[in-house]
Amino acid sequence: MRSSLLSTLTSFRFLLILFAASCIIFTVFLTHTLTPLYLRRESVDCFEHARLKAESELGPTTAPNARNLIVVAGHAIWTGGSQQGNADSEWILRPFQKGQQSTFVAHIERGIEELVKDQNSLLVFSGGQTSSLAGPVSESQSYYNLAQSRGLLSSKTEELSLRITTEEFARDSYENILFSICRFHEFTGQYPSNITVISHNFKRGRFTRLHRAALRIPEANFNFVGIDPPGEISKEGELNSAVVPFSADPYGCFDQALVTKRVERNPFRRRTPYFESCPELNGLLNYCDAEGRFFEGTLPWDSKELHEVNDTY
Ligand SMILES: *[C@@H]1O[C@H](CO)[C@@H](O)[C@H](O)[C@H]1NC(C)=O
Repeated sequence: MRSSLLSTLTSFRFLLILFAASCIIFTVFLTHTLTPLYLRRESVDCFEHARLKAESELGPTTAPNARNLIVVAGHAIWTGGSQQGNADSEWILRPFQKGQQSTFVAHIERGIEELVKDQNSLLVFSGGQTSSLAGPVSESQSYYNLAQSRGLLSSKTEELSLRITTEEFARDSYENILFSICRFHEFTGQYPSNITVISHNFKRGRFTRLHRAALRIPEANFNFVGIDPPGEISKEGELNSAVVPFSADPYGCFDQALVTKRVERNPFRRRTPYFESCPELNGLLNYCDAEGRFFEGTLPWDSKELHEVNDTY
């Protein structure tokens, strides 16, 4: 009688332990397997929701007919002044840029000329807050201010500023193109069908061969306008500081010199909004291949019917 009671108690204790162990295993299973799945879903939905909400809060674009993107790539920051950009002292310049200010002005003038010529274009001044000496002022904003200050934006036939915007994050020539495409999409709701870049002529090779190819933009849809600064141009400098590293690392994502340059040109730790505003380009924005192979995912401009495909808002 006693022993059978004992064995009942023992087997009861055994069952209890078994039950407790199952509970623990089940809880661990729940937290490690199901919850993360649920959370991950939740965060994707949350991100998508935030994106759609942001889009729904945007009014209509002021450039509904824009098909062609014109990019003026920034090189320096104009800090203002009565000389309207003509004096060195009004610019934050790197040592080798002394005397180049008239060329920056020429780039701006040419950008506006292209804009006036083409009713279906959007002009994007591109360049971030690249210098701690200038404070939180972007190259692109300063170019726009300079254009304004020089009276370049008054046109008899239309309000040009409705078709001009700034791209506030680019830190190098590759980002000038990619981020301006993103900005175009943010601004118009579409991807451009044709891109014109205005920069120094000695950078033509890196823009038209390296960056254009890395972004898989067809040659026929890419134009380059080159205006060089006065004086001797160091072909070797361009070769060593840009062509060689960008050839090995087309997206500028692992080469030490290119990566360091991006860090140095972002003293205020800005981050782009483009993951949210250009969801179709997330793969490309995140892409980095240690062997320097080209991105192979789909791109909005793979399709010929860019506008029809992307007219979502
Ligand atoms: C591409 O854009 C430029 C600048 O806006 C324009 O002059 C040119 O005609 C456009 N080319 C095509 C094929 O649309």
